[in-house]
Amino acid sequence: MTFLRIILAEAPKIEMEHEEDEYTFSTDGGTLVARDVSSDAFEHWLGEDTLKIARKKFKKLDYALVIEDISVKGDEQQKGIGSALMKAVEDEARKQKYPVILLNASPTGYVKNGKHTSMPLPKLVAFYKKHGYEELHGQGRNVVMYKKLK
Ligand SMILES: CC(C)(COP(=O)(O)OP(=O)(O)OC[C@H]1O[C@@H](n2cnc3c(N)ncnc32)[C@H](O)[C@@H]1OP(=O)(O)O)[C@@H](O)C(=O)NCCC(=O)NCCS
Repeated sequence: MTFLRIILAEAPKIEMEHEEDEYTFSTDGGTLVARDVSSDAFEHWLGEDTLKIARKKFKKLDYALVIEDISVKGDEQQKGIGSALMKAVEDEARKQKYPVILLNASPTGYVKNGKHTSMPLPKLVAFYKKHGYEELHGQGRNVVMYKKLK
């Protein structure tokens, strides 16, 4: 069953689509995809080493909302769209009583002014830190991060 809601609280206006375990937040120029992950899927998603660290950190880790992807078109970046998407997913996660949000900071390429580029990992990590996320485990080219919601 698909559930569609328009989040009007803040500009830019963000639409949320919820289908089974997947949440898609979208607005002009940007999209964020998050997934409900339960204990069975943690190893697949986090990898064995990170899962061990996560199990120590969160004494109980039964389920979480995982941000799988966030992307804002190159020419639309640094206008607050990414931040609005991060706020929308957090508001929804709190509403749905998720104990934690997890994400894997891993720069993906985008086109800006006609040129293909990507945001360096430290800048991406700084972006998530600004939104209250902390580092769980660095894996070289990516960093798994989390935000506890209660
Ligand atoms: C990461 C991303 C979603 C941020 O979206 P955004 O709409 O630009 O973010 P906001 O405008 O809300 O926030 C801007 C902040 O992000 C950072 N930022 C965004 N784009 C940046 C860029 N091209 N270079 C450097 N820093 C950048 C800055 O830290 C800025 O912080 P400031 O306000 O202190 O200057 C966007 O840059 C993106 O889509 N990147 C490419 C895809 C990607 O790597 N996704 C992550 C997958 S894990």
